[in-house]
Amino acid sequence: MDYWNDIYWKNNLNKNKLENLDFLKDIWVDKYSDVINQIPKGKCLDLGCGIGQYTKYFKDIGFDVISCDISEEALKTLKSNIPEVHIEKLDMTKNFPFPDKSFDLIVANLSIHYFDYEATKKLLNEIKRVLKKGGYFVGSVNSDKTYKFLIEPKKIEDNYYKEMDRFVRLWNKEQFDDFFKKFNKIVLEEVTTTRWNKIKIMWEFIYKID
Ligand SMILES: C[S@@+](CC[C@H](N)C(=O)[O-])C[C@H]1O[C@@H](n2cnc3c(N)ncnc32)[C@H](O)[C@@H]1O
Repeated sequence: MDYWNDIYWKNNLNKNKLENLDFLKDIWVDKYSDVINQIPKGKCLDLGCGIGQYTKYFKDIGFDVISCDISEEALKTLKSNIPEVHIEKLDMTKNFPFPDKSFDLIVANLSIHYFDYEATKKLLNEIKRVLKKGGYFVGSVNSDKTYKFLIEPKKIEDNYYKEMDRFVRLWNKEQFDDFFKKFNKIVLEEVTTTRWNKIKIMWEFIYKID
C-alpha cells in the first residue's frame, strides 16, 4: 500500500471533505509579497504539489507552472481543478527530469520533509541544479517543535522518524544551515499556524541562488 497515493490522498480526497475545503486557505506566501514580486514571472516548478494550492497561487500571479507529485490521485484532482496546468509524476528522491537552470522559481510547500539525511542532501542539490542563477526557492517544512504531536514515533536517525505508515523529518535552524549552505537566505521564520483545521508549527522559507 502506497502511503501518499492510497492512504493520504485517497482519504483526503473523499468528495465530501474536498467540498468543505477552502482551496486557498493555507497560503502563507502573501505575507512576503514584496519578495515574491521581485521574482521574474517565468517558469515555476511546484514540487510535491498535492492538489495544487500553490500551483494556483503562482499561476494566478503570472508564472508558467509545472506541477509535480508522486501521487497520481493528487495530480488527477489538480488537473480537474486547473486543467491548463502541466502535471508530471515525479519522485523527489530521484534525479529530476529537467535540464540545469530550467526554473525561475521552485515551490515546495510541506513536501521536502519526508526524507533521510542523504536523500534530503541530494534533493537540495537537484533543486539548486535546476534553478536559474538568481532563481528562488520558496517553501515550508515541519518544525521539530511538532515532535509532541507525533503518534508513537520511532527514531530512524537524528531528526528523522517513522510515524505509523510514513516517514517524517522535523526541522530546526541547524538543518537549514546545513542543507541550504549553497543558498542565500531571504526569509526563515518559524510560525504556528493551522492547516486543514489542525495546529501546525512549521518553518516558512525563501532562499535564492546567486
Ligand atoms: C503535505 S502534502 C503538501 C501538498 C501541497 N504542497 C500543499 O501545500 O498542500 C505533501 C505532498 O508531497 C508529496 N510527496 C511525498 N513524497 C514525495 C516524493 N518522494 N516525491 C514527490 N512528491 C512527494 C505527497 O504526495 C503530497 O502531495
